[in-house]
Amino acid sequence: MAGATSSQAAPGAAAAEYGGAGAGSADVPPGTPAPVTDRMSLHQAHPVDGRSLRTVCGMFVTGVTVITSGDADHAEGTTVNSFTSVSLDPPLVLFCLHNESRLRAVVEGSRKFVVNFLQGQQEGLARAFAGKGTAEIRDVAHHPSVTGVPVLSDALAFLSCRLVDAFDGGDHTIFVGQVVELGVPRQHQEPLVFFRGWLGALEEELRGVHPIIDG
Ligand SMILES: Cc1cc2nc3c(=O)[nH]c(=O)nc-3n(C[C@H](O)[C@H](O)[C@H](O)COP(=O)(O)O)c2cc1C
Repeated sequence: MAGATSSQAAPGAAAAEYGGAGAGSADVPPGTPAPVTDRMSLHQAHPVDGRSLRTVCGMFVTGVTVITSGDADHAEGTTVNSFTSVSLDPPLVLFCLHNESRLRAVVEGSRKFVVNFLQGQQEGLARAFAGKGTAEIRDVAHHPSVTGVPVLSDALAFLSCRLVDAFDGGDHTIFVGQVVELGVPRQHQEPLVFFRGWLGALEEELRGVHPIIDG
């Protein structure tokens, strides 16, 4: 993987699908095989299959978060890369969560969550919160945000949110939160990135690129 030190995510860690999808053409009959040409190693039009969608969406590089929710008595966390910022005024963000995720009932019940941006050295944590036998918040260094939802203390940055909306997104639910607290406890650390099914830290040379501050 160019530009990152990396290792492949565990089998079954379905994540590449969380980046959105392009529309297909309605003119192509169902069942038409995906054409493969010299210029395109993968090309598919309607209908697209989930595996191909994951492959293509996996080429959109993202950061990696652990979404925490609940409170001191019962908190849960799940690894998520479908985070995006939505609005500055009011301050809104969203993430997409599989409808069968354990975290769903906790977010809907507590109506609050924290987005923890992982740093490059936290690949193990990303994996630990991505399995069905997921990690326990109590085993990870954490402290309460203003809402009482645990913040992972070694995260690069965090956003503490109150749930303001939830939308049907097929087999996922789109949760929109209003940011009520934020922080950057580890600002000099590299982020953890996800690309083509690989988790890794950015390499040093990417620091030289001019940052986009506005817009
Ligand atoms: C890098 C990465 C990104 C992921 N992103 C998402 C996501 O955006 N939404 C989601 O529902 N699951 C995502 N997953 C999968 C969940 O972490 C995993 O399926 C889940 O933790 C297992 O189910 P649970 O939520 O009930 O624990 C991702 C996994 C990995 C490794």
